[in-house]
Amino acid sequence: DTGYFTFDPGFVSTASCRSAITYIDGDAGVLLYRGYPIEQLAAKSSFLEVAYLLINGELPTAKEFESFTDEVTHHTMMHEALKSFLNGFRHDAHPMAMLCGSVASLSAFYHDSLDMADPAQRRLAAIRLIAKVPTLASAAYRYSIGWPIRYPRNNLEYVTRFLHMMFEVPSEPLELNPVVAKALDLLFILHADHEQNASTSTVRLVGSTGANPYACVAAGIAALWGPAHGGANEAVLEMLQEIGTANNVESAVARAKDKNSGFRLMGFGHRVYKNFDPRAKIIREMTHKVLGELGVDDPLLEVALKLEEAALKDDYFVQRKLYPNVDFYSGIIYKALKIPTEMFTVMFALARTAGWVAHWLEQQVDPDQKIGRPRQVYTGATERDYVAMDKR
Ligand code: SDX
Repeated sequence: DTGYFTFDPGFVSTASCRSAITYIDGDAGVLLYRGYPIEQLAAKSSFLEVAYLLINGELPTAKEFESFTDEVTHHTMMHEALKSFLNGFRHDAHPMAMLCGSVASLSAFYHDSLDMADPAQRRLAAIRLIAKVPTLASAAYRYSIGWPIRYPRNNLEYVTRFLHMMFEVPSEPLELNPVVAKALDLLFILHADHEQNASTSTVRLVGSTGANPYACVAAGIAALWGPAHGGANEAVLEMLQEIGTANNVESAVARAKDKNSGFRLMGFGHRVYKNFDPRAKIIREMTHKVLGELGVDDPLLEVALKLEEAALKDDYFVQRKLYPNVDFYSGIIYKALKIPTEMFTVMFALARTAGWVAHWLEQQVDPDQKIGRPRQVYTGATERDYVAMDKR
């Protein structure tokens, strides 16, 4: 009993760690970052303020936020040698492969000077990751389309700076609709943290060995890439494009119920939420607003709405408590913001970096922290003697 929430002993015994960062009630569809409801943060905060909250546990004063913003702004550059690293990838490498590799390589550029015993240096590593991941992410994208890398402009706000690095071209000034940066900032808030999801648990497992924070976050990026996790947002759009029109929704739902089809409704279901994912609710409303403000009429939105409607009244999904999750609508918004499909999961990784570094920092000061060592149920052969090859 933490004085806030009481857990049944069974739950605590299976928990992988204790954490004060994010609370989820999967049955009630509740998500709190450091006690603040996601709905309030989505409506009133900014991604960088949420990053501060996740790391420090409290909302910043104006002075604290100014200093945090300044710190992040002045660590956005990537080492120039990283350009050669990125140039070593095939031109059509998936940006997640390039992001995973380049974040891991930060160990070589910044970790050697890091004294992990010093809280100030651990915090600096966290700031560096929040600051540099957008630079690396945009560099990966521009490399994949053969454009020159754009350097971070420190006079811009965090998300606007990222959009400039993504889309600015030398030949003409970038005209950015403020709706785009606001929508992306909100999506980053919604993706910033989510308790012990697969990628965050990966970061903590790697962190439990004493590995450096850059290697930990690179491992988190690798885990997030999978289509069952962060890769689902890219898979949802591909699924909606494959379904094509609302007329094909019924057959898609039928296929998703057929175990032999190998087809699942991407963006549906969740390990924890057995109710609506509160983030999906916010993104669903946001989709209509953003597409309306941008004047985008995307037929895939109608397919998504019809698919959700059909699934939510189908016993197969109702009985299994399968609801839309954070990934179901986000791809439609990313598409409207002209984020390329192959960059959808990179958007997720950029936002989740705030949660990953918050968990890594929390782990470093946990007195009960031990090396992660999951056990197994052994299903192999019982003990037996070696047989010489000529006797087999
Ligand atoms: C994220 O953990 C987190 O917090 C993750 C995340 C975060 O912020 O970090 O929230 C982000 O990863 C969201 C999830 C994104 N993934 C997808 O949308 C991929 C599609 N969803 C499924 O693969 C699945 O729902 C999972 C992986 C998300 C959850 O898997 P579970 O809880 O292990 O569900 P399950 O595999 O045990 O399925 C239970 C039943 C099974 O049927 P039965 O064996 O009971 O007959 O539901 C079925 C499954 O076949 N099922 C689905 C389904 N998801 C589960 N059937 C059709 N379509 C689906 N999407």
